[in-house]
Amino acid sequence: MALPSSNSNLVKHPSERPLPPFHADNNQASSSSPYAATTLTSRAAVDKDSNYGSVMPPLYLSSNYTFDGFKGKRQYDYSRSGNPTRDAVGQAISDLEGGAGAVLTASGMGALDLLFHYVRPGELIFAPHDCYGGTYRLLRYKADFGFYRVRFLDMTDLAGLALALAEEAPKLLLLESPSNPLLRLTDIRAACELAKTYGVLCAVDNTFMSPILQQPLSLGADIVIHSTTKYLNGHGDVVGGALVSKNKELHDHFAWWGNCIGNTGAPFDSYMTLRGLRTLELRVRQQEDTAREIAELLNQHPAISKVYYPGLVDHPEHRLACRQQNGFGAMISFELAGGEPELVQFLNQLKLFSLAESLGGIESLVAHPATMTHIAMAPEARAEAGISDQLLRLSIGLEAVRDLKNDLLEALNLICVEHQDAALSLV
Ligand SMILES: Cc1ncc(COP(=O)(O)O)c(C=O)c1O
Repeated sequence: MALPSSNSNLVKHPSERPLPPFHADNNQASSSSPYAATTLTSRAAVDKDSNYGSVMPPLYLSSNYTFDGFKGKRQYDYSRSGNPTRDAVGQAISDLEGGAGAVLTASGMGALDLLFHYVRPGELIFAPHDCYGGTYRLLRYKADFGFYRVRFLDMTDLAGLALALAEEAPKLLLLESPSNPLLRLTDIRAACELAKTYGVLCAVDNTFMSPILQQPLSLGADIVIHSTTKYLNGHGDVVGGALVSKNKELHDHFAWWGNCIGNTGAPFDSYMTLRGLRTLELRVRQQEDTAREIAELLNQHPAISKVYYPGLVDHPEHRLACRQQNGFGAMISFELAGGEPELVQFLNQLKLFSLAESLGGIESLVAHPATMTHIAMAPEARAEAGISDQLLRLSIGLEAVRDLKNDLLEALNLICVEHQDAALSLV
């Protein structure tokens, strides 16, 4: 069977660019920046070296800084509390998100843990029941240790959220949209509006989108969380995180705690992240273009029973994605038909998708959430969240779309051949 070329299940995104991504002139980085995102990331900390006039910002590895005499503390004294290289990338990420400042942490989990320092023992956090497995584990275990209380909710269900808020308002609402791994969306504006009526602080994990495709602060959130390990660095060679605050008071609070608990990011990691960040928009746009085509292909394949991608018109939150996001992203999850033997056969056949955790880099990856990213969730919690054993998650990289499609088709068709189903031809 040849691939039908025109019955696309993908609609044109309302904000679809008239120009190729690298001419994204109209894509203003955020409401607080006069510049487009690519301008901002290209110019971040460039030409700021008054000592030597280096064009690119130097890497300050020094752990400490001299005082200018007795009581003469300069801008920096100790790299746990502040470091010029880390501050440069923090400023760039904050500018992209339209924030008042960002704390760079040693990992995305570090950023989340820092966020939870807003909450005291006995106080409550609302979190998505289908969030990243590491987030779930952190909340669950620290709640068991009495650090705070946590309630996991289906954040696609605003009526349920309203009910839960009325029963007992939390101190903090954490959203993850799109969620990992099921690509479910929460109406961020509506959820924040609801929560704000109870005085709740609202945080959004924006890791799957990056500030290029979604800016939660402009939708009413107070905090944005990133695993910078993913799209922001984008090259699979740094683990890091960021916590962006909408106002200075919140930023100062988290910067204080970041220094106090000592989970701030390392200078070298910051340097690498700033270097990766410079091409963020180009990467994200290209990866998304490829992902759209791949989602369409997977959606037609007989060896796949369900595709989760917000760009598909039958995705339950497709209309919300069009409204809330500047694109659909480059993460796709799907249920492979059959059982574990088919899963193993499919994974073994792939050549251009490495079986690995993480996402958002230039290299395409495939993950099996039940045994990898979400193994820390009990089977019952995974079942409640809808994470099945046949679920696979793809992170689409920068390889040529034709090569990725053919790689997937070859692996999927093999399953069809064994089951005597019709296969799709290579492109
Ligand atoms: C949505 C999300 N948030 C947070 C994290 C944690 O980030 P890190 O692995 O950098 O600690 C991840 C990791 O996969 C993630 O997918």
